[in-house]
Amino acid sequence: MAVDSPVKDLASIYRSQFSVFEHVTYVNSCSQGALADSVKASFDSYISTLELQGSAWGDWAGYQETMRALFAKFFEVPTAEIAVTTSASAGVSAVASALDFTKGRNKIITTENEFPTIGQTWHAQELRGAVVHHIPSNADLTVNVAAMIDAIDDQTLIVSITHGCYHNGAVTELEPIIEAAHKKGALVLVDAYQTAGAVPLNLSTLKADFVVGGTLKYLLGVPGVGFLYARSETTSHLIPTSTGWFAARDIFAMEIHSYDPAKEARRFESGTPAIPSLYPSSTGLSMVIDIGIENIYAYVSQIHDALRTGIESLGGVVITPKNKANHGAMLAVASLDENAHVAALESEKIVTSSRGGNIRVSPHFYNNFEDVEKIVAAFAKTSQYLRK
Ligand SMILES: Cc1ncc(COP(=O)(O)O)c(C=O)c1O
Repeated sequence: MAVDSPVKDLASIYRSQFSVFEHVTYVNSCSQGALADSVKASFDSYISTLELQGSAWGDWAGYQETMRALFAKFFEVPTAEIAVTTSASAGVSAVASALDFTKGRNKIITTENEFPTIGQTWHAQELRGAVVHHIPSNADLTVNVAAMIDAIDDQTLIVSITHGCYHNGAVTELEPIIEAAHKKGALVLVDAYQTAGAVPLNLSTLKADFVVGGTLKYLLGVPGVGFLYARSETTSHLIPTSTGWFAARDIFAMEIHSYDPAKEARRFESGTPAIPSLYPSSTGLSMVIDIGIENIYAYVSQIHDALRTGIESLGGVVITPKNKANHGAMLAVASLDENAHVAALESEKIVTSSRGGNIRVSPHFYNNFEDVEKIVAAFAKTSQYLRK
């Protein structure tokens, strides 16, 4: 998606707020976003409530609502369509618990690119009558859209797609799959963990029925906070059977003789929120919102392209699709020994990670072109590990 204004050099504005760069060149945002000073300070705000007030349930519960409002603002949807979860897994499990596989539709159509939590949750539904079909991906790990569409039939209850593949960052075009699924009366769940905060995603226009993810990667937060978007128009009839008191219509009814879930997406929540994580995660997400996802995407695309050019100039093979619509921030480099390669880069003070035989280099708005030079130099120095 293009922006009208010239691309802003975001690192020159924000990088000084991330102290990790005083120590290492950090390009592992696909795993954990770098810690901003303001995010660090919010841990202290939580600790202060304990030190000064002992218990501060009003403030704490308020943070759950702050988080919900921030997710709603970020994804451009109403707050009623957002459940604040403790992980992407918790969101998918709550959705699965609301599905009935015994009423004519028992198929789950998914990809070969899913994060383990998604595949495992769907296969767990086999105990409840579901049949799971994985559609083979294209060689570049984008989803085979035509094969997915072909597989969706009148027995399909839900289609589950990852937006950005965690192995190599391949981004799949969701719209045709969503449209085809809806034509057949099937729901669609999108795992957007690897793209939220890296690639623009307007959920009010996307029309996916469910979208899950969390805050610890490109949204600059910490473990313990996730989101589940549930589109009211198509999902309000679905009632989770995996639940908890924070999902109740009236949390403080303290009712034990009946189940009365909230009408809003909040019904997919569970027990006491991960309050210590809400403070830093809301600060991190606020920062992403303030900078603007379009600005982030435009800036990081340039860093991504420069990294690709540099690594390819060494004879390295970037296995992330080149087409702009099919990648986000991450690029994955083919490696002969991923663990030794990550360790060798780390000894050059370059922090990356690996999956499936590839080194994942995942920049964000705090990375700059000096980082690119250092990273390419480190890949040159460790070129014995490049799979060419
Ligand atoms: C694509 C994707 N989905 C899901 C997850 C895990 O989510 P959670 O641990 O919040 O359940 C990750 C985390 O690495 C991921 O990359």
